[in-house]
Amino acid sequence: MERVLASPLGPVLHRARLLVLHALIASVRMRRPVLLAGPGTARQLCRTLADLGHRRVLLVTDAVLNRLGIVQPLVEALEAAGVACAVHDGVEPDPTHAQIEAGVAAARAHRADAVLGVGGGSPMDAAKLIAACVGNDCAVAALVGNFRVKKPPLPIYAVPTTAGTGSEVTAIAVVTDTAARAKTPVVDPRLIPAMAALDAGLMLGLPAPVTAATGMDALTHAVESCLSGFANAETRALSVAATRMVFANLGRACADGADLEVRQAMALASTLAGFAFTRASVGYAHAIAHDLGALYHTPHGLANALALPHVLDFCRDAAAPRLAELAVAIGAAGTGDPPRDAAQAFIDRLRALQRAIGLPPTLAALREADIPGIAGRALAEAQGFYPVPRYMRRPECEAILRRLLA
Ligand SMILES: [Fe+2]
Repeated sequence: MERVLASPLGPVLHRARLLVLHALIASVRMRRPVLLAGPGTARQLCRTLADLGHRRVLLVTDAVLNRLGIVQPLVEALEAAGVACAVHDGVEPDPTHAQIEAGVAAARAHRADAVLGVGGGSPMDAAKLIAACVGNDCAVAALVGNFRVKKPPLPIYAVPTTAGTGSEVTAIAVVTDTAARAKTPVVDPRLIPAMAALDAGLMLGLPAPVTAATGMDALTHAVESCLSGFANAETRALSVAATRMVFANLGRACADGADLEVRQAMALASTLAGFAFTRASVGYAHAIAHDLGALYHTPHGLANALALPHVLDFCRDAAAPRLAELAVAIGAAGTGDPPRDAAQAFIDRLRALQRAIGLPPTLAALREADIPGIAGRALAEAQGFYPVPRYMRRPECEAILRRLLA
């Protein structure tokens, strides 16, 4: 890959790989989960699991949510409906292979007939991977990559407690390889949950910094999928809607975390962005963010927030018509404005939003000595897989990273 990145043929090889990948993705049927939306729908989903015939459910979450009392009402709803529920709360941010294997052991011990992920991206991703490992009787390492989930997982259900990852509707789950210090994706339509509940009632207590960072993850999904070469009319409409909803609601969600209506709008925005990017993919901001997360445990949404404005600066002219569409959607430009001016107005409005919700423009943990390695790994992830509007070379990626130095 290093040779490819340095080669003048890099952009050509990138395009050739993307053509193949696009044809493959376009041929795959992506099912849409049944969505329940509104306060109280998490408990409704639990009752529905009984109606669907499930009798033994593994609820996958993290210890913090369990301690906060968010999980217990769902356990009680399951038990009241006649479903035996075991709680596995051993998932930490950026779940590792060992954490997935522990969840697989818990699912087998409980003889689970379904898996319910409750939490942010990490518990939902873990739930998807645990279900896939049990269904395929394999270790998670065997699933890393594209389309490697050969047999159906245990049925997967999801209740997000943050508005950002979109994991409740996507075909993607990320597992951290601690030895390689890398986040590795498992991509397969079999990972798409059967049903999800977007219950803003579970998001009311989320602190403002977490609300801001996770909301920026949703926005990065929306923007990168909108600029993607894989985007179609349907995904673009979802991307534009999600972008509009984040700009209209994220500031208010950070300022008043108890506003249920705003929280519900953010939950839906995150899901719409999830639908868009699971088909249209993401871009360089995510490639950089994944490596910052693996190296420094930078929260995923924060890492995206750091990278996105600079990535948009880099591709502004190449992506001007799409960025202009987003600018019009959020009221930053008019339909008759020159696309380049409108694109710049969108990027300016993005930076203003990030300042308003208190997100930092630099990363204290980032070290100059790490930058060449981060750039190399980020581009290795992106080139050939992410349908970006402008091909990035290593010096350009390193320059973006240096702007993030504190
Ligand atoms: Fe993301």
